[in-house]
Amino acid sequence: MLRILALFLLVFVFQPAFAGDVFAGKEVYKQHCQDCHGATGRGELAMMPNFSRGEGIMKTDREMYRLILQGKGIMPGYEGVLPDEDVDNVIAYLKTFL
Ligand code: HEC
Repeated sequence: MLRILALFLLVFVFQPAFAGDVFAGKEVYKQHCQDCHGATGRGELAMMPNFSRGEGIMKTDREMYRLILQGKGIMPGYEGVLPDEDVDNVIAYLKTFL
């Protein structure tokens, strides 16, 4: 019984701390990223990465995290704008464009 309880806690309670939540990430994306990157991840401006072809998102989570906090070119940095949790979640969502 205790083992089942421990497993339950591990899967349903602690998991969100390790992995980003794709559904929450979609909301972050819609609010902060979609105007530039588009609903399909293709990019609304010339010379932008096409996420649906894997451009710009073939990185480790750490690299992606740093990129989102610092920004790149005309992309603004989100340090102090998005809490860590939102950044993790939007990273998880970016991977669904592939
Ligand atoms: C003002 C428009 C704009 C907004 C808002 C924006 N981006 Fe970007 N993003 C860009 C542009 C432009 C590039 C290409 C930058 C370059 O290569 O110079 C880019 C590049 C990227 C890349 C690829 C970077 C690389 O190394 O090639 C990722 C990943 C990314 N953006 C994620 C996001 C996420 C996540 C958000 C929302 C939190 C976001 N962007 C918001 C304009 C934007």
